[in-house]
Amino acid sequence: MKDYYTFPKNFLWGAATASYQVEGYPRADGAGISNWDHFAHQPGRIENDHNGDISAAQYLKYKEDVQLMKSIGIKAYRFSISWSRVFPNGTGRINPKGLDYYNKLIDELLANDIQPWVTMFHWDMPQALEDKHGGWRSRKTVDAFGKYVGYVTSQISDRVKNYFTVNEILCFTNLGYELGVFPPGLKLDAKTVNQTVHHGCLAHGMAVQAIRANAKTKPQIGIAENLSSMVPLYETREHIDAARKAFRWNSAPRMTAMMEGAYPAEWLEHIGANAPEFTDEDMKIISSPLDFVGINIYAPTYVKAAPESKLGFAEIPMPEGYPKMNMPWLNIGPNITYWSPRFLKELWNVKGIYVTENGCAAIDKLDHDGKVYDTDRIMYLRNHFISASRAVNEGIPLKGYFVWSLMDNFEWACGYNKRFGIVYVNYQTMERTPKASAEFYRETISRSAVV
Ligand code: NOJ
Repeated sequence: MKDYYTFPKNFLWGAATASYQVEGYPRADGAGISNWDHFAHQPGRIENDHNGDISAAQYLKYKEDVQLMKSIGIKAYRFSISWSRVFPNGTGRINPKGLDYYNKLIDELLANDIQPWVTMFHWDMPQALEDKHGGWRSRKTVDAFGKYVGYVTSQISDRVKNYFTVNEILCFTNLGYELGVFPPGLKLDAKTVNQTVHHGCLAHGMAVQAIRANAKTKPQIGIAENLSSMVPLYETREHIDAARKAFRWNSAPRMTAMMEGAYPAEWLEHIGANAPEFTDEDMKIISSPLDFVGINIYAPTYVKAAPESKLGFAEIPMPEGYPKMNMPWLNIGPNITYWSPRFLKELWNVKGIYVTENGCAAIDKLDHDGKVYDTDRIMYLRNHFISASRAVNEGIPLKGYFVWSLMDNFEWACGYNKRFGIVYVNYQTMERTPKASAEFYRETISRSAVV
């Protein structure tokens, strides 16, 4: 049988999770209370009042989970470090026991030939920083983050080479300070919210510098960012150009600033008095050079050319009834895995691109034979892989892919009601069952081709 959708042999196939979503036991071994721990324990914040107290219990079962990864053929594990385990109060006193868990996890991964790819911030931060300084509203939080990242790097960089600074800036700023659905659960004015986004970018830049300054071996540093995934209405020059413009415009206060060292003038004009306060020095930090760019890719936004409009493009509203996976925002659009990497290359000549998350929620059930036949997830992933193969074979420097997620976990405000894993977790027994999608992933990895 001929393989049509191929990948180079050294394409990095990985899986991703985040600390509060999979570990459980967030207060163990001297850890401080995190913002998510605090938030999830407030009645009414999370569906069914779920919380991350036990989660998928990876804190206890990491060895078993490493074996699972190995059996699937996963080459790299993207996980995050919980800041409040290491600095219980955000600053000052270090809790060395907090890092023990990550040291053990890293050692276990390396012993099994799986590369650790570490995210420094995947949304859980010491609640003390929210209480004392107003969280991401304050530069003090940014400074504390830089110190935390520097310390962690000094402790793990003898073994860890690859780092992500922060994960999805808009989610820990807008969702928390504008929409109030994530901690700290506030609905603040636009200027304050824009300031939190600026601080998120600054935290990213500070982390880049802290990692470079403290790493014992030469690090590879990137971010895991969620850009708007723009797709041209159809593939003609005019619509492709429009989608590229839309991609840059929508990334303006984040990726565009990181890549170009400035907020685009037209964006500053657009937000007017709501612009954040910033200095030239901030912009230098934000645009610290990166070794690669990671993008979390889920759902498309369609764009058409609009020569009559000032920006030259128009976003097309989603038709009613557009197909989705099991999540209100998860519209299906697999060609984003081609277009986003292509635009990163065309706009900013990014040389190393990773899909740091891609996956979907599905209504998974154990069948009579004890298996989970998630044909819907296989359909979703398969089509994304085909787009990834297209990118790679056109010479776009897409170097790896991390599926979201290794296993079912705490899906933030949706609690345990949404399952994103390729491995099923029974939350009563903590038993893990690889789904059919895990077998599909294993076959794809072993053949370096979509199966
Ligand atoms: C992106 C986030 O980084 C991750 O934590 C989340 O679970 C997935 N999207 C799915 O919503």
